Amino acid sequence: MKTVFSGMRPTGKLHLGHLVGALHNWVGFQATHQCFYSIVDWHALMGEYAQSGAIVPNIFDMAADWIACGIDPERSVIFIQSDVPEHLELQMVLACITPLGWLERNPTYKEQLREITSRDLQTYAFLGYPVLQAADILLYKANAVPIGEDQLPHLELTREISRRFNFLYKKEVFSDCEAILTPTPRLLGLDGRKMSKSYGNTINLADSPEEIQAKVKGMVTDPKRLRLKDVGHPDECNVFSYYRTFLAAREISVRAWCEGAGKGCTDCKKELADGIIETLRPIREKRVKLLAERGYLEDVLKKGAERARVKAMATIREVREAVFR
Ligand code: TRP
Ligand code: SF4
Repeated sequence: MKTVFSGMRPTGKLHLGHLVGALHNWVGFQATHQCFYSIVDWHALMGEYAQSGAIVPNIFDMAADWIACGIDPERSVIFIQSDVPEHLELQMVLACITPLGWLERNPTYKEQLREITSRDLQTYAFLGYPVLQAADILLYKANAVPIGEDQLPHLELTREISRRFNFLYKKEVFSDCEAILTPTPRLLGLDGRKMSKSYGNTINLADSPEEIQAKVKGMVTDPKRLRLKDVGHPDECNVFSYYRTFLAAREISVRAWCEGAGKGCTDCKKELADGIIETLRPIREKRVKLLAERGYLEDVLKKGAERARVKAMATIREVREAVFR
């Protein structure tokens, strides 16, 4: 069976973007692949080292969200990165063979240094972010890595680093891994910008029905549709793209009433909010239940780490043999 690896940083609440952009995809892989899904707390620490106290609560929140969304701890290996020390061991080996120029040229790195001004990211570890990510993937010899587009440069670096490893130590320890992008078109935030916690434009998996109604009510609609009798342009309306993702069965009727000026945007958004609330209801109920059972989550993560370590230790043995032979 082929192997999937992916990770998420425990830096805050999961939102609809995570659900349709990543988790749906992750759930699907469980039928065909051995899946390793890691809560990458070392990667979180690279950005959040000055507010590290939130990482542990975020880890449990994330584990509950994943399971509530359908990641099955029996089938998938769910674990905390820092519970498997081999990640850091492989990172060290890979750090030794990674030329500084590859990291300094990384577009994701340059963009983050430019855009994130709330934290000082000019650190030694942060430059090496993709080296740890490569170690995550290579430790499990993953064939497929579901990621967002912004992570493509990191996958390319992973391949370059693994080839360099095989070349230097004259052994095919690692093979190439493939990035898998989400098939669904990406969902924008409530304000039409990229959906992101830092923009405050998300609907979170933990949001209450009241919060969801209020958030959807505030969404920007087709700017050309000012009055009820104006015809609307659903393809230019962010609300409509949410229908596509969450209430696809209503797409045709909503298009008809919008283009025919049948109903107003307020009603349109109210119905959308109801649909999102119904989609999230089972997830929300399950996550609340899981969070109340801290012992169960601890157990899942502990067992996950044990299973992950079996594979991780085998790879590290091979790596040591190749390097120190
Ligand atoms: N860098 C990824 C992100 O921010 C998270 C991540 C860490 C990851 N290690 C990984 C993703 C390994 C895929 C594979 O989204
Ligand atoms: Fe958008 Fe709905 Fe208003 Fe049409 S009716 S412009 S789809 S909010």
